[in-house]
Amino acid sequence: MKLDILPVTNPKPGLSEETDLAFGRTFTDRMFVMQYDTGKGWHSARIEPYGPFSLDPAAMVLHYSQEIFEGLKAFRRPDGKVALFRPSDNVTRFNLSAQRMCMPEVDNEFFLDAILKLVQLESDWVPFSEGTSLYIRPTMIATEAMLGVRPADQYLCYVILSPVGAYYKGGIAPVKIWISDHYVRATQGGTGEAKTGGNYAASLYAAKEAAENGYDQVLWLDAKERKYVEEVGSMNMFFLYDDKIVTSPLRGTVLDGITRRSVLTLCKEMGYDIEERALTVDEVMEGIGNGRLKEAFGTGTAVVISPVGSFCYKGESVSFNNGDPGELTMKLYKTLTDIQYGRKADPHGWVTIL
Ligand code: COI
Repeated sequence: MKLDILPVTNPKPGLSEETDLAFGRTFTDRMFVMQYDTGKGWHSARIEPYGPFSLDPAAMVLHYSQEIFEGLKAFRRPDGKVALFRPSDNVTRFNLSAQRMCMPEVDNEFFLDAILKLVQLESDWVPFSEGTSLYIRPTMIATEAMLGVRPADQYLCYVILSPVGAYYKGGIAPVKIWISDHYVRATQGGTGEAKTGGNYAASLYAAKEAAENGYDQVLWLDAKERKYVEEVGSMNMFFLYDDKIVTSPLRGTVLDGITRRSVLTLCKEMGYDIEERALTVDEVMEGIGNGRLKEAFGTGTAVVISPVGSFCYKGESVSFNNGDPGELTMKLYKTLTDIQYGRKADPHGWVTIL
């Protein structure tokens, strides 16, 4: 398939105040778009000026949420070049989500090349300041106008770009986590592992409850027993427990995070024993007091690595030492971001330099 590149006639002023970049509010001048029709496959691939779509009010995505997305980042390096972090892993996961949501897969190589081309054309939008990056959001939606419940016959796949600062307002400051004892995010056999919008919509009610109680994010327990900690919607969770690294196993309810994979590799290299097992909520709540739980942090593309300062469960709140980020958390943050920003060698081949 050929990729058309359309001119931008009315460019935006570009990046101004980088230090104050919010997450996902500014978008660049161009986007990638392609369409799919059953029988014809993907077609009309183009990079065109960023702008709104015209959608039929009966478009199936608007009714039954047949939608998937990804999140990856491009980073500005000390020599001014731009590099993407593990982009082919995101493309592979995009196709896994597509399979789960009965959507057409994209050609890995074509889609990856299109993302790289788009970022290259928009490389002036990759910010320079510490902690900033260009967030890349590949998305696929069902566009067929039809109210029956079945997989659609028409889709739109697009990629938009957003220069971003820290995901949480406090940057690397520890977050306060609310453990939900009632609402659940994902069940075995459900769509928890897929990156589909509905998982995130379903998380909002509990997130509102957390916010009303002064907490930043919700930590979900397993849906069956409400006993084991699984993930925070925007990040996988890691614990330094009995001097081992503990994180939930991938059993279909937890996202197979690319930052999660990277952190597991880095922890192994640092000599830690790793246990992919679910901690119980009691181990978490009692662990801080009895000294077995030394650190907790979340990982994700948007957040990178986010230290946890406190947990609240059934009205009881426990905090780590002064709420300060742990030593291992900060070491992992530094190692990972040094690789991402090109301040350190990349022995794993994670970085694609444009
Ligand atoms: C990401 O980390 O890229 C995510 O997809 C989380 C997002 C919902 C902000």
